Amino acid sequence: MPKHFLMCRPEYFTVEYAINPWMHPETGADRDVAVRQWEGLKAAYEELGHEVSLIDPIEGLPDMVFAANGALVVDGRVYGARFAYTERGPEGPAYLRWFTERGYPTRQPRHVNEGEGDFLTLDDVILAGTGFRTDVVAHQEAQEYLGLPVISLKLIDPRFYHLDTALFPLDGRNVAYYPQAFSEGSQAVLRRMFPEAVLASAEDAEVLGLNAVSDGTNVIINAEAWGLQLELKRRGYEVIPVDLSELRKAGGGPKCCTLEIRGDK
Ligand code: ARG
Repeated sequence: MPKHFLMCRPEYFTVEYAINPWMHPETGADRDVAVRQWEGLKAAYEELGHEVSLIDPIEGLPDMVFAANGALVVDGRVYGARFAYTERGPEGPAYLRWFTERGYPTRQPRHVNEGEGDFLTLDDVILAGTGFRTDVVAHQEAQEYLGLPVISLKLIDPRFYHLDTALFPLDGRNVAYYPQAFSEGSQAVLRRMFPEAVLASAEDAEVLGLNAVSDGTNVIINAEAWGLQLELKRRGYEVIPVDLSELRKAGGGPKCCTLEIRGDK
């Protein structure tokens, strides 16, 4: 099943502030390298037959390339983002406008949430992260608006500040994750919900290997996540490694650059 993704070219990408431990403004980042790597990710989606739509980048919003944070779209309904840090604040309305202009029903968020960075959708449930960015009250707001049960999971390691840095859905029923990024209670919830999950090592997590995108057959994943790639292949997945090392300097990987528009086909 082809998917529909929204992406944002890293035209104005740079690391000029630090809102997560990956970001070092003193060393910055190379915009041209980032654009080239991002083009590679976009091409990988298109080669797999997925549709990619683009939102115009806005000058002065260097993190806007991380489209996953822009909204949460389920059944064609769009729950808008409200960013935790003022540096990214204007991205919320910009992404929401993209959807309203195209006729999608949208919901202005009342609570802090960073879109698909902290909300990952499976067939019958949405997994939601909290602890660093998204407010747990937003989990309830999303559940009320989208009508899918939302399971709250607590993140405890600042390097894995969004749920999508510590976990990704392999398909509508199973996930891969790095257990140590979660509180004891949330680890117990994940074990109970996903007894067949793929568990990632610290080495895989530390190269943002969990910030991957699976269409159920193919997994687009950071090239450096060796162990995780081997296990995915062992389980029968087609693994497509991508190099997004420049974007990792802002704390992002393939999933961060990708907002899935669910339910418009
Ligand atoms: N620099 C961005 C931030 O800290 C990176 C966002 C990565 N996005 C994601 N979905 N994890 O907000």
